[in-house]
Amino acid sequence: MNLIFSADANWGIGKDNQLLFRVSPDMRHFKAKTLGGAVIMGRKTLESLPGGKPLPGRVNIVLTRNPDSLEPCLRQSREEGLQLWSCRDLSELALCLEQQGLPQERVWVIGGAEIYRLLLPYCSQAWVTRFLAAAAADCFMADLDEEPDWRLVEEGERQEWEGLGFRFDLYRNEKPRELPCNS
Ligand SMILES: NC(=O)c1ccc[n+]([C@@H]2O[C@H](COP(=O)([O-])OP(=O)(O)OC[C@H]3O[C@@H](n4cnc5c(N)ncnc54)[C@H](OP(=O)(O)O)[C@@H]3O)[C@@H](O)[C@H]2O)c1
Repeated sequence: MNLIFSADANWGIGKDNQLLFRVSPDMRHFKAKTLGGAVIMGRKTLESLPGGKPLPGRVNIVLTRNPDSLEPCLRQSREEGLQLWSCRDLSELALCLEQQGLPQERVWVIGGAEIYRLLLPYCSQAWVTRFLAAAAADCFMADLDEEPDWRLVEEGERQEWEGLGFRFDLYRNEKPRELPCNS
């Protein structure tokens, strides 16, 4: 399982339930990586997507402690041919992933802050779009440079889009854990 996220210089990842920056090369990178796979997100991140709808061409798995609240969205997604599942804890998530039968490298944790922190120990890689500027964020990712099991394995070349510098970095977890399974 992989994490994929964009972060500013202070590991800020969002503000007012929106992304900090909308950078076309980053959007393309995200789509290319996740298309055809499964994306795992928190309920608030689902709500932040365009129209509050799941992403097309991917199996969308949403973590919520109140799955009833997703019923209208689940119904509408079914009608529109979008794939949306809800899970209320990690063991339901483990079961859902097993049923999807996708290889681990095609499973992506896509946010937000609560879900990144929850699933960080279970991920083996993190694809990080690092913006080389600080924004006024109100939610943050853990600083992977300070996480004992995580190492920066590839630092991408500096690129620029509309005056904003960024890099595509790759981190690896040396001790990824298995998701807990109750069954
Ligand atoms: N920079 C990036 O790459 C990136 C990517 C994605 C999102 N974001 C940003 O992140 C922000 C949203 O993050 P967030 O932390 O506020 O929300 P979030 O992680 O998207 O969702 C939090 C929700 O997930 C559910 N949840 C959390 N822990 C759970 C658990 N153990 N079991 C079951 N459900 C659980 C709860 O839903 P219920 O309340 O329904 O129970 C909780 O309210 C936004 O600003 C967004 O733009 C940034």
